[in-house]
Amino acid sequence: MVENLDAVDDRSVGCITMLPTVDRGLCVLMIKQRVSNSAQSNYWCFPKGHPEISEADTVAASRETQEETGVTPAIVNDGTIFSDVGYTFIGRLHKDRWSKHPDFPEKSKRPTVVTHKTVRYYLATCSLEISRAAQTGGTEEAEAVEWVPWGEVGSRICHNEEKHAYAALSTHPVALKLKNQSDELAISAAAFAIYSADALLVCSGAGLGVDSGLGSFRGKSAGSEPAVLAKRNLTYEDASDPVQFEDDPKFAWAYWKAKYDTYTGTCPHKGYTILKDYGAGLQHGMFSVTSNIDSQWGAVGVPDGRLWEVHGDITRLQCTNIDRCDKSGIWPVGTALDSLEVDPDSCILTTDSDMPRCHMCGALARPNILLFGDWGFESSRCDNAEKNYKNWKQMLIESNAKVAVLEIGAGSTIHTIRMEAQHAADTFATPLIRINPEEPAVLGLKCQGVGIELGALEALERISAAIQMMQQQKK
Ligand SMILES: NC(=O)c1ccc[n+]([C@@H]2O[C@H](COP(=O)([O-])OP(=O)(O)OC[C@H]3O[C@@H](n4cnc5c(N)ncnc54)[C@H](O)[C@@H]3O)[C@@H](O)[C@H]2O)c1
Ligand SMILES: [Zn+2]
Repeated sequence: MVENLDAVDDRSVGCITMLPTVDRGLCVLMIKQRVSNSAQSNYWCFPKGHPEISEADTVAASRETQEETGVTPAIVNDGTIFSDVGYTFIGRLHKDRWSKHPDFPEKSKRPTVVTHKTVRYYLATCSLEISRAAQTGGTEEAEAVEWVPWGEVGSRICHNEEKHAYAALSTHPVALKLKNQSDELAISAAAFAIYSADALLVCSGAGLGVDSGLGSFRGKSAGSEPAVLAKRNLTYEDASDPVQFEDDPKFAWAYWKAKYDTYTGTCPHKGYTILKDYGAGLQHGMFSVTSNIDSQWGAVGVPDGRLWEVHGDITRLQCTNIDRCDKSGIWPVGTALDSLEVDPDSCILTTDSDMPRCHMCGALARPNILLFGDWGFESSRCDNAEKNYKNWKQMLIESNAKVAVLEIGAGSTIHTIRMEAQHAADTFATPLIRINPEEPAVLGLKCQGVGIELGALEALERISAAIQMMQQQKK
């Protein structure tokens, strides 16, 4: 009797279907299953189902994928099995098994059982035209069907065993080949957009510095913070509170001196010069908008008039007391930090006598960086840069210029840079080119975007090579 069973075996076959795309990197076809249990309401998985009697596994895997998603997969790798995944769960007996059981009337309630499930997966791809069918909405069998960027797939999968199986895909030769095709598609689209432009806007976040050896703020490439933070059991946010310069200046300056040494001791990678040199040759030149404070754009020679560092720059100082000292302005750090000495045990400055001082009033100086909850930030340089940027954009609009908009290494948590890049792409009705190895998808803009799922240096070198090919072909 089925009701008395406490465990059943269940076997399905399915496809992990991959599609190289221009706007969101290599994508994998997933479905959100229709489930009656609200605890599983976000149940994303790969399409799969039960083979019919005497149906070959590969045929069943393709048929089930087609029925559940509307996409016709082409199984690759000569039909070699990618993975056999096994897991156990408690739930209602599957409707296929129930409705086919001779002993029970169709309408009676399906019993709850322990299911030992195995799923055999094959790798597949499909053509872009066919895939369009699955861009929106669901099908009779699935609540939603989506092409998910492959970096996001792991976090959507419900069963750990499936997660493990999927992890092996990142080094699988078939996936790597498709990933490369996807990169090539995006690189060519980006190169063409830049090659056809007469102005270049580059919006960058912390990810741009990763290939020079600087850490990003969040994610896989997050950098380490100066030792003094751990010593004091403080967070980055605590250290970036302007109150530290009042309450604990020897700590505050030890922290910012360490940041200053890291940023100014780092050589910007070749990607910066590629962009600066290419931009210099364009009719309307280049403008760089960045939330980075690392002064790397200035270091490669992008002039102040073409640079908006929205959070300021580590190589400039200001007075801590701008309410009463409004004439001191902003000045270059010069050698002011050279003599600061940090005590190796406490990790704070040994003395407060060498700390930089305001040249007007003698009060403590601080970096000209926008800190958290910062009412004392001297914003004149940022304000001027923003004005220059707006004027440049206005001039481009009036000249009906063709603008290429590039966003590099900007995260999605603090979206200042993403918002600016997206807004500019919509203003100039141009594709947004997003270079980001972890979150490359560009969706919902006026023009179809380009998502390059690579690190900044590799992406920029490949774009540069593709542009050179285009230039040679033109000759
Ligand atoms: N270098 C700096 O000046 C620096 C460093 C850390 C943080 N910050 C500050 O912290 C805030 C952080 O926000 P955020 O969005 O800039 O950073 P974030 O750390 O939140 O995001 C970094 C982004 O870079 C991407 N990335 C990782 N490696 C990359 C690579 N090799 N090439 C290209 N992209 C890569 C990540 O996928 C991520 O999307 C900013 O406001 C910034 O001022 C600045
Ligand atoms: Zn002053």
